[in-house]
Amino acid sequence: MKILFLDHSGVLGGAELFLLDIARQYRDSCLVALMAEGSFQARLEQEQIPVRVLSKQAIRVNRGSNAWQSFTSLKQIVPLVLEVLKLSRDYDVICTNTAKALVVGTIASFLSRRPLVHCLHDILTAEHFSLINFRLVPILTNWFAERVIANSKATQTAFVAAGGKTELTEVIYNGFLPERFQQSPENATQLRQQLRLEGRFVVGSFSRLSPWKGQHVLLEALTHCPNNVVALLVGDALFGEQEYVDRLHQQVAELGLHDRVKFLGFRADVSELMSACDLVAHTSTSPEPFGRVIVEAMLCQRPIVATAAGGVVELIEPGATGWLVPGNNAEKLAEVINECYADPDLAAAIAQRAYQHASQAFHLDGTCQKVAQVLERVVADQALTPIQTGTVL
Ligand code: UDP
Ligand code: GLC
Repeated sequence: MKILFLDHSGVLGGAELFLLDIARQYRDSCLVALMAEGSFQARLEQEQIPVRVLSKQAIRVNRGSNAWQSFTSLKQIVPLVLEVLKLSRDYDVICTNTAKALVVGTIASFLSRRPLVHCLHDILTAEHFSLINFRLVPILTNWFAERVIANSKATQTAFVAAGGKTELTEVIYNGFLPERFQQSPENATQLRQQLRLEGRFVVGSFSRLSPWKGQHVLLEALTHCPNNVVALLVGDALFGEQEYVDRLHQQVAELGLHDRVKFLGFRADVSELMSACDLVAHTSTSPEPFGRVIVEAMLCQRPIVATAAGGVVELIEPGATGWLVPGNNAEKLAEVINECYADPDLAAAIAQRAYQHASQAFHLDGTCQKVAQVLERVVADQALTPIQTGTVL
């Protein structure tokens, strides 16, 4: 089975890390086509996964775009469609991984009569998408996709509420290799020394810096915790949220937290850094579709506290495998931080249970197997369809 994966992003967000894990299984029979240059391309090349960048300039439509801006982006989309159409003739199935990739992929799939599977990583709300994209995803998938892989039940529910067909969907969680998250306690100690964090209670945040990821809530929570509690902010503004980064630095200054907050920027050594934390906090202020970071913390055997919304509630059983708190509530977050600070044995027991659970429930083998089944079924069904005998181009 030959697969053409399509993603619009040049950078490594969670959706791209999911795709990387899937594409790795098809190194010899796939191509990952990207619509922008960047670190994602470099990572695919590094892992010898065939990759082609179709456009050096990212498509300029975002959630603030109006109908006219979306319309003018067609100038960028047409050449992309033509290129994907040409490529798709050499593949059995097109698998799109982002909304913009879906727009390009559906047209190409329709014209080349290659089946389309869409991986849906977002909770479809008008708040997170341009209105056009918000409406377009359910319409395009209803008409053209054979299957929609949703990264959580929350993502699936929002898709159906936005008009998507339930019967198209299948929930497949992100998967992980537990052994990639094993770190020696010596490494963690060394890292804490390097970062000058010895003797402090370290709360780590491992998300890109973006208003809805809610790093500001963690900073505020620190003001309700003892001075010994510090925050490590790992991640960068991946999609142009520089204004938010400036606001976070300003907040640190206003709250007098200079010596209690470290900004580390985007890092490739997440599991090492997580293992050096006492607690991982995931503070999204909007429902998180899945939240890879949460499972990664569990696999690093670190206690996790996260906002009770979206797919997150499917990942954590409160009190058993982690803590859930209401979004945008610094006091409640601080209560959990203080509880973990005061009772490290309880935190360790919960982290241990979470590790056992996550290594089974979110193992990469299971995820890859489920994705493979979807793709194989779609390709097999297509082979049985009479229309297959003649392609448009
Ligand atoms: N991540 C990373 N380096 C960083 C910050 C985050 O590699 O500096 C990774 C993190 O380990 C996780 C992914 O980025 O695998 C973020 O995925 P998640 O699903 O948590 O959120 P997203 O950013 O995709 O909404
Ligand atoms: C998206 C979502 C995130 C999810 C990731 C992988 O980036 O925002 O919640 O974990 O995709 O599915």
